Amino acid sequence: MQNNQTLFEAIELIKKSEEIIVFSGAGISTKSGILDFRSSDGLYNHISSNYDLPYPEAIFELDYFIENPKPFYNLAMGILDQYIRPTKCHEFLAWLEEQGKQIKIITQNSDMLHQVAGSQDIMECHGTFNSAHCLECESEFHLDDIRDTILEGTVPYCDCGGLIKPDVVFFGEDLPEEVYSYFEKEVEADLILILGTSLNVLPISKFITEILERIPSIMVNLEATQYDKEVTCLFNEDLNEFAELSWGLLEKSL
Ligand code: OAD
Repeated sequence: MQNNQTLFEAIELIKKSEEIIVFSGAGISTKSGILDFRSSDGLYNHISSNYDLPYPEAIFELDYFIENPKPFYNLAMGILDQYIRPTKCHEFLAWLEEQGKQIKIITQNSDMLHQVAGSQDIMECHGTFNSAHCLECESEFHLDDIRDTILEGTVPYCDCGGLIKPDVVFFGEDLPEEVYSYFEKEVEADLILILGTSLNVLPISKFITEILERIPSIMVNLEATQYDKEVTCLFNEDLNEFAELSWGLLEKSL
């Protein structure tokens, strides 16, 4: 860890905060083996070199998905792999909750690793793989109904013949209603942790960065973001390293 002073400041902030919002992005899961999106070794570069897509983001566009759902389902296979386990950082957040902190996780991830780690209050602002809908008759499916099909490398279809799409938010689709109602009111918390996100995707990055004017914040991200100057404590570090160090220091004092 490069800066001990900032680490101690961050630890003090966590210690004295009762209500903590956690905003997580793909960077929290890279150590689980899931690619993030925009790093040089992330998904979008991987798609550019390995898939024949018009442009990488097409993998999350409805029109393209209807025409060619295979690339999206290939990606889903990696996320739903049973050997993918939460990272130290996911576990650290669940531990903080066990210590009596009120933790609200707002995640852009649909990998469900916060749930597996044991966090209780999770808002999946870019949707989830846990449920899915037929694009024709709108029948609802649980992940268990389609998991094996996806893991076999086959695209799941409904009995009506329609293509099934997991309830992951694609570009151009609205975020789940609960996200808008949550941010409609003035968000209150003692601290916000921003973990593993480039803060590039609207509208959620706007909702989050607006809070930075009012609530102390800790950001941990390997690469710089355009909001680095707006946070209270900044760590351009690996999240597992941050989590391990913080956990060790807090364990002695909480
Ligand atoms: P990005 O890929 O844009 O950003 C992930 C960030 O995590 C990068 O800035 C990395 O530097 C950082 N990172 C990676 N591994 C890390 C580690 N071990 N420790 C610390 N930092 C690490 O991912 P998101 O910001 O989550 O949307 O992307 C937001 C949205 O863009 C996604 O939800 C997805 C995508 O398009 C939809 O699918 C709708």
